[in-house]
This record gives sequence, C-alpha cells and structure tokens, in this order.
Amino acid sequence: MSILPADKPLTPKSEPHNFFIYGATMSGKSYFASFFPHPLVLNTDGNSAMGTAPSIQIRNIRDTNGKLKQSAIEQLDKVVTELQQPRVTFQTVIVDVIDDICVMIEQAICISNGVSALSDIPYGKGYALFNTVLQQFVMDLKALPMNVIFISREIENTDEQTGRTETRPSLKTKYYNIVNGNCDLVIHTQKFGNDTYYRSVTDRRTEYQPENISDPKILRLLQSVKNMFPTKKSNK
Ligand SMILES: Nc1ncnc2c1ncn2[C@@H]1O[C@H](COP(=O)(O)OP(=O)(O)O)[C@@H](O)[C@H]1O
Ligand SMILES: [Mg+2]
Repeated sequence: MSILPADKPLTPKSEPHNFFIYGATMSGKSYFASFFPHPLVLNTDGNSAMGTAPSIQIRNIRDTNGKLKQSAIEQLDKVVTELQQPRVTFQTVIVDVIDDICVMIEQAICISNGVSALSDIPYGKGYALFNTVLQQFVMDLKALPMNVIFISREIENTDEQTGRTETRPSLKTKYYNIVNGNCDLVIHTQKFGNDTYYRSVTDRRTEYQPENISDPKILRLLQSVKNMFPTKKSNK
C-alpha cells in the first residue's frame, strides 16, 4: 500500500487545542486557564492562586554539592510520559509560566555541564541542546489528545521616538517562535481598574467558527474572548 495520502483536499481542522495566553501579572491568565476541562497545571511559581486545579511544581533542585538532585528537564520528561498513558483523565495541560520553564531548562543544562551560561558551552552546543529540549517538550505536549495552554508574562516596550508603548509576551523571541509555532490561538489578558478583566485574541492560526468547537465549556470560555469569532452579519 502507498504511504502517500489520497490526492484530495482535506477539510482543515478548525478547532483550537493549543493556546498561548499572555498578560501582565494579576490580569487573569491563570484564572482563565483554570476553567478549561480537567486541568493539570505545570506550575513554576510556588504561590499559584489556581484554586482547585491540581498542579505539579516544576523546578531544579540541587544537592549540597551544587549538583542537580532533580532536573526540571527530567521532571518534564516524566510528566509527559505519564500523560501519554491511556488511563489519564486530564483533558488540559497548563504550563504556568513557560518563561520560567525556559529558564529552568537553561539552568539544568548549565548545571549539568558545569557552566554558568549556555554560551559557555563550546561550539554553540548549549543553545542547540536548549532548542532540542524545548522543541521536544512543546511537540510532545501538542501530540497529547488534550488542550495545551502556555502562559507567559508580558513586557512593555516603549518606542523612544513616538513614545508609544506596546506590550508583548516576555518570552524571548526565538523561544516564543518555537512555542507559538505550535499554538492555534494567542490570547492577551488585561485588567482595567479594580475589577474589569478583559481578554482578546491577538493572533490565530485560522478563522474559527463557534459551531466547530466540540466542548460546550470551551465554547463558553472562548465566547468571553474579544475577537474570537467573526461577528455575524445581520440578515435583517
Ligand atoms: N475574569 C475574572 N473575574 C473575576 N476575578 C478574576 C478574573 N480574572 C482574574 N480574577 C482574579 O484576579 C486575581 C489574579 O488573577 P490570576 O489569574 O491569578 O492572574 P495572573 O495569572 O494573570 O497573574 C485572582 O485572584 C483572580 O481570582
Ligand atoms: Mg498566574
């Protein structure tokens, strides 16, 4: 039998499963993500106020000699392997926050190579290793039959000349590209005043239609995000 697919157009997969959420601290990123079905949080800041969502604390732990007792890379690897088991009932994996996960991967590589920065590893091998680990992690998560949510903090960039300020994810651009290249939807969270929380889509893989979102819970969540669905033209 041929390994080639049939030569006919496919109906594109039009349901988002991989999300990237960024926003300022306390703008409602974790809060929003926690409403996705059956979440598991891979958490990096010990004081997560995620309420009821079960979580795993990801971190590097050193022994008294400065050697790695627990490596975040191995820990993530184990988590992914377990999530691949058929008995798993989680339906959403939340990486809160991916910025820290990247730093931890960097640290783990540096500690096990006895250097203080990736650039200290000769021939660019440190960076290559980093990219491989991050890429593998992101792709393994994407391959799971689950929703995946990457959360990132935001930074403000002020243009010196125009004085205009724009916000963007704090993840370094080359890491952002690896993560984001595997996401369907980018959502920006903002908080105005004391209690106005606002979320909007800032980037998407394709135009999504509400009728194609199979989980009603996720549909309701997405309907609370500005720009998510095309506004219907009225037929009046
Ligand atoms: N849409 C919302 N409605 C009401 N409270 C919210 C909303 N979003 C966030 N909050 C509250 O704001 C606080 C900060 O939200 P959180 O999601 O932890 O922020 P972030 O993860 O962006 O730092 C939490 O106490 C949360 O309960
Ligand atoms: Mg948070």
